[in-house]
Amino acid sequence: MIHDAITLPAPHDTVRARAVHRAEYPVVLADSVEEAVKHLRTVVPDQRIALVTDDTVAALHGRELRHELHRQGVVNTMTTITPGEESKNLRTAERLLDWLADSRMRRRDVLVAFGGGVVIDTAGWVASAYMRGMPYVNLPTTLLAGVDAALGGKVAVDHPRAKNLIGAFHQPTAVIAATPWLATLPARHVRAGLAEAVKKGVIASPALFELIERDLPEILALELPILHRLIHGAATVKCALIDRDPYEEDLRRPLNFGHTIGHAVETVTGYGPVLHGEAVAFGMACAARISHSRSWMTDTAHTRLLTVLQRAGLPCDRAHLPAPVHPESVIAALDKIRLIRDGRLRFVLPIDIGTTAVTDDVTDDEIRQAISRPPHPPTTRNTERADTAAP
Ligand SMILES: NC(=O)c1ccc[n+]([C@@H]2O[C@H](COP(=O)([O-])OP(=O)(O)OC[C@H]3O[C@@H](n4cnc5c(N)ncnc54)[C@H](O)[C@@H]3O)[C@@H](O)[C@H]2O)c1
Ligand SMILES: [Zn+2]
Repeated sequence: MIHDAITLPAPHDTVRARAVHRAEYPVVLADSVEEAVKHLRTVVPDQRIALVTDDTVAALHGRELRHELHRQGVVNTMTTITPGEESKNLRTAERLLDWLADSRMRRRDVLVAFGGGVVIDTAGWVASAYMRGMPYVNLPTTLLAGVDAALGGKVAVDHPRAKNLIGAFHQPTAVIAATPWLATLPARHVRAGLAEAVKKGVIASPALFELIERDLPEILALELPILHRLIHGAATVKCALIDRDPYEEDLRRPLNFGHTIGHAVETVTGYGPVLHGEAVAFGMACAARISHSRSWMTDTAHTRLLTVLQRAGLPCDRAHLPAPVHPESVIAALDKIRLIRDGRLRFVLPIDIGTTAVTDDVTDDEIRQAISRPPHPPTTRNTERADTAAP
């Protein structure tokens, strides 16, 4: 290939580097594993696959997936990590890097992350680092991963000081979910995933919020056609929001709703005892309380949000969190995050269903009050909560 010769600028001219990267990838919701693998073959026609999953997903769905991969002629090798947030760290990532190198994976081979957000975030970060970036495909198996973690290319592992502190943007080649994988998801994880879907309704889609309000019992009962609609709707909202700002240049992102306090709760409880979705639900309830006491959030929206969270059996109050959380320890963790960031702590405060405002003037006192507030009075539909609560 002959390139045009490059002329040299004057010695004092500024040299400019430019690297523009925009990715586009399909997000597929298959109704069977066979269909999912067919889609996988279309995006990965002849590369070798390094399959990363966790022990639970491997035990429940690994054999069927590998059988189907084999049947459709996809060469693969598999490893597993220990399930849960405790695994989302540099030690696990290093072990995966060793495994890729020992398996002689090349830069054009493909890593496939098969699991929930922990597998997807950790394996995705490993894919971003291995040989300066190898392609990867997400096969989400939790509701949370299907509506959120598998989309957007934000990959990271946790650090004792802050969640997702070590990370990158590395866009997947495709996201392929198969609804039958969700059928084995424990109730507690269904609820946690729902929190991220509720978030998207509140920040950007009254229609999605209404779907959740209306179909909540069927969602909690894991009725697959309803879950399909929920994931399709929530993924559409997330993809539309990513499209506006794929690399988070604007730090005032509505997708962070519930995450300021949520991440701090995960950090102070040591990553694990409080699920990400549970922490986000609590964070959304706190942000709603702050906004409502400022008279920013309408009464109706405030009641609708807290009611839907309660009906879903998600923690809106400190007493319902699965681990003890002291308001002062959350404030101390937020202080550390403030220092790591640019000295400011941004809060996404809901105004109405579908509308939010972003502010950095929330005071420690407002946070303290929002966290300490006694349990929200039971709603008339609270019986659903008892029916669906995990043991
Ligand atoms: N990158 C992003 O944009 C993004 C967005 C949201 C959340 N996240 C991250 O996602 C993580 C949480 O993800 P998660 O809630 O999926 O957790 P997870 O990956 O820990 O999965 C939850 C549990 O369910 C099990 N599991 C997975 N699929 C199953 C299935 N089909 N049947 C039965 N059990 C199954 C897992 O083994 C695990 O024990 C957090 O670390 C969070 O920070 C990332
Ligand atoms: Zn989240």
